[in-house]
Amino acid sequence: MRKFSVSRTTLLAIACAAVFASGCKPNPERRELEFMPDMYRNPALKAQQQYDFLTGGSAMLTPPEGTIPRGFSPYPFSITEGAKAGEALRNPLPMNRETLAIGRKYYNIHCALCHGVVGSGDGSVTLVHREAGMPIPPEIYSDKIRNEWKDGELYHTISMGQGQMPGYASRIDPMHRWAIVHYVRALGEAANPTERDLELMERRGLDPRVEDDPYRSGADAQLFLERRN
Ligand code: HEC
Repeated sequence: MRKFSVSRTTLLAIACAAVFASGCKPNPERRELEFMPDMYRNPALKAQQQYDFLTGGSAMLTPPEGTIPRGFSPYPFSITEGAKAGEALRNPLPMNRETLAIGRKYYNIHCALCHGVVGSGDGSVTLVHREAGMPIPPEIYSDKIRNEWKDGELYHTISMGQGQMPGYASRIDPMHRWAIVHYVRALGEAANPTERDLELMERRGLDPRVEDDPYRSGADAQLFLERRN
């Protein structure tokens, strides 16, 4: 049998070819060196150059009115400025049956999964979180929120998030956020019924002790309205 042998020159040639070939393969992980960027990107007009034939003499056009830069947020408060937002912002929506119904709809869609339908912090996601040692949301009808937090601070928390809670600015329309704020107020009142509320509930055949009835919060909100009007 003939002995298989490769000369050093052949080996060197194969190695060189391998290195050369690997250089041709673009690596998406790494930014390649651009020796002559102008040859890759060749804009017809250059941003900083004077062009007498253009209005204003520049290729940089003034953006049309109302243009918003990328990443721009018209909301003026940073995530830690909840109290400031509370002072500055007013709920533009009236508290009435209609806005409460909208608030309830969007609370049940976006918030109840963590905060629970009545705001006690026992939403379905929270229960899983609890097992994994995740923080559970505080009661949404706490004295702190009822007495100290202004509507604007609630709106701020919904928009920007807090701790483990994500912000909903990109997911819930501002007017729906304000409606949710009204509904959170209603949940706060519902969790602290007065003697008169309890009487009213009894007359309407509602049991205030039914904690986990998903419709309870709705019934309570109606009741809260009746008391206010
Ligand atoms: C993914 C779960 C989750 C969702 C969904 C969620 N939250 Fe929260 N929320 C939390 C957690 C957890 C906290 C506690 C955050 C912290 O302080 O670390 C919290 C805190 C809050 C607080 C402040 C409570 C306090 O006493 O400081 C408010 C108010 C609130 N959420 C309202 C809402 C509203 C309204 C919605 C719906 C638009 C909502 N949350 C959606 C998890 C959630």
